[in-house]
Amino acid sequence: MRFLSIVPFVGAALAACNGHDDLCDRKYSNITFVGSHNSAFVGVIPVHNQYKTVTEQLDLGVRFLQAQTQDKDGEIEMCHTSCVELDEGPLTQYLQEVADWMDDNPDEVVTLLLTNIDGISVTKFDDAFNSTGLKDYVFHPEKKMALDEWPTLQKLLDDGTRLIVFMDYNMDESQVDYIISEFDYFWETPFGETDSDFPTCDVDRPENGDPTELMGLMNHMLNYDVLGIAIPNQVDADETNSDESIQKQVDLCVGQWGRKPNVILLDWINIGDAFGMQLSLNGL
Ligand SMILES: *[C@@H]1O[C@H](CO)[C@@H](O)[C@H](O)[C@H]1NC(C)=O
Ligand SMILES: *[C@@H]1O[C@H](CO)[C@@H](O)[C@H](O)[C@H]1NC(C)=O
Repeated sequence: MRFLSIVPFVGAALAACNGHDDLCDRKYSNITFVGSHNSAFVGVIPVHNQYKTVTEQLDLGVRFLQAQTQDKDGEIEMCHTSCVELDEGPLTQYLQEVADWMDDNPDEVVTLLLTNIDGISVTKFDDAFNSTGLKDYVFHPEKKMALDEWPTLQKLLDDGTRLIVFMDYNMDESQVDYIISEFDYFWETPFGETDSDFPTCDVDRPENGDPTELMGLMNHMLNYDVLGIAIPNQVDADETNSDESIQKQVDLCVGQWGRKPNVILLDWINIGDAFGMQLSLNGL
């Protein structure tokens, strides 16, 4: 009878990793994610970058969220360039949305890339992660990892460390060990592109970033240039986010560096073929 009691589990499907058994044994650094650029800026006017809310983005299949933060009278706010231009509310509100979604979706590994141009203290970010419950999910690297030292998705899930948090500038890992340096782990192609051919896969940041040692983030957002200000191009989003346009720039990257990018960052991510590309770039 004891034997019988375990029988029901034998045929049960193993929990899939981000929806796919095939991803469980893949290292984090060997997976390509589509990423939502300025994920908090939701709306239809020129200061916005996305049509769908963060929860909706996650429901659609986005597992890499990039978000901009600014200092507003000592508080961390989701503001676009300045809080006068666009203020989408406090970081805690944004993080709460992610926390609620992660609570409901236990087999999903999520990445956050926060920008901190104003140099707000990381301990303030830590408070926000803690108060929303998100700190319970964060990944703490034990040391600076090489490209092939990243854990697999299964390991991140097993360890309960399924939220990876990067920051572009002004992080301090001696104070908050889980807010890790983007440019220790990623290089990026140029952003602010106005040529719909996306003709380059050159390294823009960090200076001397080595694509054989770092993960690649391919900025694939098209802008209009209005008097020197880059405005996200909504009208052509369907074409920008088409499998053809994304694949063409990915092919440039593979040709130039021998590896697929790890992140394809997009505006208006629900438009076009982002999620089909996320599957095909991972061989799924
Ligand atoms: C994953 O590894 C395969 C085989 O080495 C490689 O072709 C592919 O570019 C890698 N993908 C990423 C995103 O690292
Ligand atoms: C972290 O959050 C918990 C729950 O909200 C709270 O009890 C605790 O005091 C917080 N810790 C810090 C260091 O703020």
